[in-house]
Amino acid sequence: MNVKRIGILGAMPEEISGIVSLLKDKQEVIKGMRKYYTGIINDVEVVVVFSRWGKVASATTVTHLIIEFGITELIFTGVAGAINKDLNIGDIVIADSLVQHDLDARPIMDRFEIPLLGKTELFPPKKNLNRIIDRVAELVKNEGLINLLSLKQQESFLLINQKVVVGQIASGDKFFSSDLDKENLLAILPDVLCVEMEGAAVAQVCFEYDVSYVIIRIISDVANENAVVNFNEFVSQVASKFGVEIILNLIG
Ligand code: ADE
Repeated sequence: MNVKRIGILGAMPEEISGIVSLLKDKQEVIKGMRKYYTGIINDVEVVVVFSRWGKVASATTVTHLIIEFGITELIFTGVAGAINKDLNIGDIVIADSLVQHDLDARPIMDRFEIPLLGKTELFPPKKNLNRIIDRVAELVKNEGLINLLSLKQQESFLLINQKVVVGQIASGDKFFSSDLDKENLLAILPDVLCVEMEGAAVAQVCFEYDVSYVIIRIISDVANENAVVNFNEFVSQVASKFGVEIILNLIG
């Protein structure tokens, strides 16, 4: 049997640096403009790397993790823009379905169909997923994430009643920053909870190589005209801390 080795892919360099500082027996390998850190967290072998942004970059990074480092499972964390109106900034979304919203080879194939796979969405393997949902839900219920922030930070980022939601995430090479774009997306994918730029690409590679994966996203904005207003501050002050704590709670 393969040794358990978890790939930790982060969409934010700030989050990666927090996780890297926890590694025991840390080593670094630089390849293809990426820095891979190997080491141990909670007695489990891990490889930590910044995905880079977009579908091509993240698919390349995860392929490298699988082939060169032999990871047996993958955890991806990062931020996302809310599409569903019940989501608030700071909420956590865990994907049980992933779709590439910009994949459209009609009329040769159905809209969103992944060429040669004959699937329009991918579903992370259930066994690992359920365990992870339970652990993240427990962490949020015990206010283990929100308490990492000062009251001032909670207020200034409008974090209220943080929740964990499980559902569909849509990925594509586009940053959503208008209500019109959101409406157009909902018209073609009515169940989408949030958007980001990597998850479904990572899912496709993991599916093709039969590696178990989970995609976890922290809502950083509501994908409208204000999406970029506090984006960098949210990533550096909030999402990076949440991401490290989530990873710590999921490993071991
Ligand atoms: N990641 C975080 N916010 C996003 C947005 N509004 N659109 C796409 N990806 C995102």
